[in-house]
Amino acid sequence: MNTIPFLSPLLVAVSLIVAGAGAGDETTTCPGAPSMTVESACRNVSHTQAMYDACKGALAGVPNPMSDHDATVYALAAVRGAMASADATVVAANEQVTYNGSLSGEEKGAYEGCVEAYAAAEHTPWAPS
Ligand SMILES: *[C@@H]1O[C@H](CO)[C@@H](O)[C@H](O)[C@H]1NC(C)=O
Ligand SMILES: *[C@@H]1O[C@H](CO)[C@@H](O)[C@H](O)[C@H]1NC(C)=O
Repeated sequence: MNTIPFLSPLLVAVSLIVAGAGAGDETTTCPGAPSMTVESACRNVSHTQAMYDACKGALAGVPNPMSDHDATVYALAAVRGAMASADATVVAANEQVTYNGSLSGEEKGAYEGCVEAYAAAEHTPWAPS
């Protein structure tokens, strides 16, 4: 399953929100969020190369990555990436349950549990649309 790719952008988003708390004086969605490039944002929140790579991947769609952006932009991009990854995972899990006749009962239950958990996570009130 796709648990790590789903969670990584979410961790990046949470890290950026925490890193942004109390710093800077930008007037944007999150008051006080710092402004930085994708590069600095990912360096600041990543403690390993794998985290850094996941961060860069999660923010690959941000336009003008060499320019400073409010960290809120990165947080939202990362959350949207996580949501897209979760959607793809739910679709793949549903396909397995529906079409894969070779699944054991245990595997089927695991896929169904995954779909339920992801659906619940995607319907939290703070999730962007
Ligand atoms: C990010 O890192 C840079 C230097 O690498 C530092 O100047 C900046 O204050 C850091 N920003 C945050 C929000 O931690
Ligand atoms: C169907 O499930 C089996 C058992 O988990 C797995 O090995 C196989 O790759 C699955 N088939 C497809 C097409 O995903």
